[in-house]
Amino acid sequence: MIIKRFQQLLALCCMGLFLANCGGGKQEAEDEIPDVDPMTNLGIGPVKSLELGELDQTMADEGKKLYDAKCTACHNIKTKMIGPPQAGVLDRRTPEWVMNMIINPSEMIKKDPTARHLLKEYNNVPMTEQGVTEEEARKILEYFRTM
Ligand code: HEC
Repeated sequence: MIIKRFQQLLALCCMGLFLANCGGGKQEAEDEIPDVDPMTNLGIGPVKSLELGELDQTMADEGKKLYDAKCTACHNIKTKMIGPPQAGVLDRRTPEWVMNMIINPSEMIKKDPTARHLLKEYNNVPMTEQGVTEEEARKILEYFRTM
């Protein structure tokens, strides 16, 4: 009997904690993120405009090496992992935005509306800085164009 009471009490406590956590989350959800069209959003970072010419396969191959080394801990091309799958990312985002996200993720997930929505969708797990230079990011982008 006493044990049962104790169990009930414990369950109540857990629920209280759970609700308290939920409350915190809700607060954040109410902190409105503006809706912007991702296909016109250039993101925040050094890349302001970018013309994509013909695909450069050598660059794409180098991009793949960088991607495999620096990104596959969290990303897979086709399936959702810690981060989103990358196939078709250029059908959803501008190339400038993608490069800024790779070079400048910590500012992006704080200030850019598209990245903030994504952060929320990915359970507030932040994409961390990978120390990628603009030149390297451009190669990774070229690799993304082959997907
Ligand atoms: C620590 C895990 C982690 C690593 C490492 C990581 N990412 Fe991410 N990435 C994420 C998460 C999580 C998101 C979703 C946004 C968020 O929650 O911050 C994301 C989002 C992205 C997006 C936006 C995707 C979309 O559909 O809009 C791109 C592009 C991206 N990452 C590219 C890269 C590249 C390129 C690398 C390697 C240089 C990399 N990421 C390394 C976790 C990671």
